[in-house]
Amino acid sequence: MDKEKIILTADRPTGRLHIGHYVGSLKQRVELQNSGIYEKVFIMIADAQALTDNAENPEKVRQNVIEVALDYLACGLDPKKSIIFIQSQIPELCELAFYYMNLVTVSRLQRNPTVKTEIQMRNFETSIPVGFFTYPISQASDITAFRATTVPVGEDQEPMLEQTREIVRKFNAIYGDTLVEPEILLPDNAACLRLPGIDGKSKMSKSLNNCIYLSETTEDLKKKVMSMYTDPNHLRVEDPGSIVGNTVFTYLDAFSKAEHFERYLPDYANLDELKMHYQRGGLGDVKVKKFLNAIMQEELEPIRNKRKEFEKDVPAIYEMLQKGCFIARETAAYTLNNVRKAMKINYFDDQELIKEQVKRFSQK
Ligand code: TRP
Repeated sequence: MDKEKIILTADRPTGRLHIGHYVGSLKQRVELQNSGIYEKVFIMIADAQALTDNAENPEKVRQNVIEVALDYLACGLDPKKSIIFIQSQIPELCELAFYYMNLVTVSRLQRNPTVKTEIQMRNFETSIPVGFFTYPISQASDITAFRATTVPVGEDQEPMLEQTREIVRKFNAIYGDTLVEPEILLPDNAACLRLPGIDGKSKMSKSLNNCIYLSETTEDLKKKVMSMYTDPNHLRVEDPGSIVGNTVFTYLDAFSKAEHFERYLPDYANLDELKMHYQRGGLGDVKVKKFLNAIMQEELEPIRNKRKEFEKDVPAIYEMLQKGCFIARETAAYTLNNVRKAMKINYFDDQELIKEQVKRFSQK
């Protein structure tokens, strides 16, 4: 029989979610949730992982748990179909991580490219918190506790998945077949893999102040789109422009569909025609930006409105999360039980053990 397909994915609650999260992952999650292919879908708010580099900021993490939950619901994640829960409420995850730590070397963690970049970004070089350093192991617990077969995440998480698969293989080789080896599921549109910030510099990130948030107001969204980085050498409308590294075109790659041209820019059949005109010269940035703004308003308006609805009943959101935690905990406890058994640390529920020991000592 085929293994049942299970999804687990997560976000660190360090800020509201932005459109990089949306095109890179949230949108696809909603589709996966509604596809009916998956037996279970677990969506975790990774507050414990957020604390690995925010130990001094518990309030920030606490405030953003609800922000992220609201963004999830606004995007269409549905607690009737997905189990939405909070990492810190599942203590089984810590115990799993404690055992997995024996299967990973310090040098292997040091080689993890994501950890390497994050250490640099946070200026942790000389004083890396141990919890932060070992978070790939904790992430392996997150994934394996729910027996996830499929982990939809951005490409920056590839090293985490590789680390998880190594732990699973090692565990199963030593202790017998217990854990499920997961696969990464990347977004299919290349532009969605690493959506740049509006400054065009690097990935959208709160610390760089280059984000468009899902909950952005109509006016702020427009302002941000109109101020986006384009081709700095495209000074006059007649000048030929470059679309490479041009944020507006990258966003169009991620967001535009044929129907948008019909609706807002009928002079062009598709994005290729628009790009060609821009490269030839004679197409101004403002026109392209206005088009992008129309598309983004259309995409984000329903999300913004849904969010406002959910904000009206915050206690219901916490109740939903608490239910999610309850179910998630049962699942993780089941896996932990199997892990303990495989590792032979299940002393009190193993009748054979006592019999064996009785025999061993009576033969002395
Ligand atoms: N590291 C992920 C991020 O920064 C969040 C995360 C925590 C995660 N645990 C996970 C993602 C388990 C997928 C599976 O976005």
